[in-house]
Amino acid sequence: MRQPLIAGNWKMNGSRTDNRVLLDGIKAGIGDVKSAEVAVCVPFVYLADVQLQLEGTPVAWGAQNLSTEAKGAFTGEISAAMLLDFGCKYVIVGHSERRSLYGEDDQLVAGKFEVARQAGLRPILCIGETLEEREQGITEQVVARQIDAVIQHAGVAALADGVIAYEPVWAIGTGKTASPEQAQEVHAFIRGQVAKHDAGVADGLRIQYGGSMNAANAAELLAKPDIDGGLIGGASLKAEDFLTICKAAG
Ligand code: G3P
Repeated sequence: MRQPLIAGNWKMNGSRTDNRVLLDGIKAGIGDVKSAEVAVCVPFVYLADVQLQLEGTPVAWGAQNLSTEAKGAFTGEISAAMLLDFGCKYVIVGHSERRSLYGEDDQLVAGKFEVARQAGLRPILCIGETLEEREQGITEQVVARQIDAVIQHAGVAALADGVIAYEPVWAIGTGKTASPEQAQEVHAFIRGQVAKHDAGVADGLRIQYGGSMNAANAAELLAKPDIDGGLIGGASLKAEDFLTICKAAG
């Protein structure tokens, strides 16, 4: 049985004051979340505050990116060890915004996945197709390519230490959510792709859905057999909405 993971991706949002209010709200309601694991992935600069506020609670925390380098002359970069310094459990790698806006390709993302995993972090590997790729009918080719880059680099067993987030790019931040059937179809394909290498890893792999999941649609999406949680953007910035999604995970 896979425990669903509901993770908030705050992206480049928040302030010290707003974050405190948001986390206080989540903490106040987390006792009503029965089975889901809950985490927030926050901007680097807030990790110390978030660690102080969440330590000892059921809510885990993490970051939204990391360097493949361990230390040295890499101005502006953040290493896996630095994330561990602040108690991070998760780190998002290969988010579509990093792929499209900052030129992160499959090989770099695979490297980030493995560096995070080797350091003891749990990488959340983001994959997904653009609207153009979906309209061309190559969704499965795209996600297979993105997964295979990690398997080629790190081996299929490495996936057991991480999470995959299927995020159709055309659903991110648009309010246009994939239908539960569309999402389930791709999630089942992803699991099948991993199963070609190792059925046990595939069966235990948590595959989150991301892309305009919200309080209204979460229950229907999370009811699908191969959807094991959500990676939540906009709806993670309001405690009430985020908790509703967490509770919808069962
Ligand atoms: O990483 C999750 C994010 O890309 C989804 O954003 O605002 O569509 O929930 P949103």
